[in-house]
Amino acid sequence: MSEIATEQRVPTTAEFRPIQYMGNKFRFLDAIDAAVAEVAAPGTTACDLFAGTAVVTRRLAMSRPVLSADVQGYSAVLAQALTRPRVFAGRESSSILETARQWQMETERMTQDLLHLEDLALGDAHTNPATLADILEHGSLAVSGRGSHQLEDAKASARTALVERGATLTRYYGGVYFSYRQAVALDSLRHAIRIADGDERDATAIAALLGVASDLVSTAGSHFAQPIRPRTAAGEFKRNWITPVMRFRKGQALPAFEAWLAKYASLSPTPFDCTAVQADYQSTLATLGSEVGVIYADPPYTRDHYSRFYHVLETIALDDDPGITQAQGSSQPSRGLYREKRHQSPFSIRTQVTMAFRELFANARRLDVPLVLSYSPMSAGTKARPETRLMSIDDLTSIASEYFADVRTTVVESSSHSRFNRADLNAEILGEAEVLIVASN
Ligand SMILES: C[S@@+](CC[C@H](N)C(=O)[O-])C[C@H]1O[C@@H](n2cnc3c(N)ncnc32)[C@H](O)[C@@H]1O
Repeated sequence: MSEIATEQRVPTTAEFRPIQYMGNKFRFLDAIDAAVAEVAAPGTTACDLFAGTAVVTRRLAMSRPVLSADVQGYSAVLAQALTRPRVFAGRESSSILETARQWQMETERMTQDLLHLEDLALGDAHTNPATLADILEHGSLAVSGRGSHQLEDAKASARTALVERGATLTRYYGGVYFSYRQAVALDSLRHAIRIADGDERDATAIAALLGVASDLVSTAGSHFAQPIRPRTAAGEFKRNWITPVMRFRKGQALPAFEAWLAKYASLSPTPFDCTAVQADYQSTLATLGSEVGVIYADPPYTRDHYSRFYHVLETIALDDDPGITQAQGSSQPSRGLYREKRHQSPFSIRTQVTMAFRELFANARRLDVPLVLSYSPMSAGTKARPETRLMSIDDLTSIASEYFADVRTTVVESSSHSRFNRADLNAEILGEAEVLIVASN
């Protein structure tokens, strides 16, 4: 890969989506930027308090310093990569890829039985889906004794090598969210990034790997909330999953990684600095000082915990061995293979959400900074499983008014960025729209 001259690099986030992410604000950047600019004191820092993919962070850092925070570690990785993308010289990326290829080859040799079984299952899936279904349901090496004898034997023969090689992604998620081959390739890249030049914290390379995992995962919605269910509750095979799973499992991680490095190399660094932290909103608010002139807040609004939907990305970012939570009321590992001790957001818990918003507004008031709050009325949950909102716009404006003298609500449409006034807040207009609540004194 060749170095890219600064003037050729993409100047804004306009075409850049680092991962597939529920509720990301990719389509509303102009409006959010304008709302923030309107209320922020000139020259002050913006705090992106629930940064997620960090696409808003990147846009805000075009015109002011940004503190980018989120409770999930992958968000800080993305924030660093989107604001200070590193351009890998040709020899650097070749060296990472060569290390990965070598590690992948050795690991594939040690896990042949499992890979062979998977190749047969994929080759035969349309006529005989049983083995691929078995792999999707019971393929994780963290789960024992639930698959067919054939699958359990193949897993047993691979287990020791995968533990010794620290192949966490293959061991936990192989077969279930990715093919075993894809998972070995993801592990090989994680290994290569870890040892490259001793700089194990290179955010751009890890962000590129997050992009690959988000592209390859074989689930509807590209998230990790639950694996494909190949059977009905009565145990009959469904058919609608075979073609999409086969398509996703054809994806190749190493070429995709190279393509993601090139995408990051095409991004211009932001003119202003970004400090990226992994932190709960309360601890972030407790550390903010007088340099901060505006808070942009885009918290969750449904019962869907982001830590459940994107736990595999968290494991890639943190590079740890997370363990697996047990399924509710059982001693079996959770079907989604969630990380132990994953974060439970008060914004996604009905009995805690009102207090959580009160804390948010009260702290913004204490700091004497305006707050720009995002609210997406219709993008609740996923298409397949819509979720109702735990708070209404009226709930929010009423809490905001207890702390701020001026509370304005605007509706922003993604395509035209046109604005409607409060009276237009009906379901038709809200369709794909975004609501911004701006509270100031
Ligand atoms: C709607 S998403 C933000 C999307 C983001 N604006 C974007 O464009 O990608 C909500 C985010 O809040 C984060 N979050 C949830 N609870 C949190 C908490 N208590 N403290 C900090 N972040 C939290 C989630 O990890 C998630 O990334």
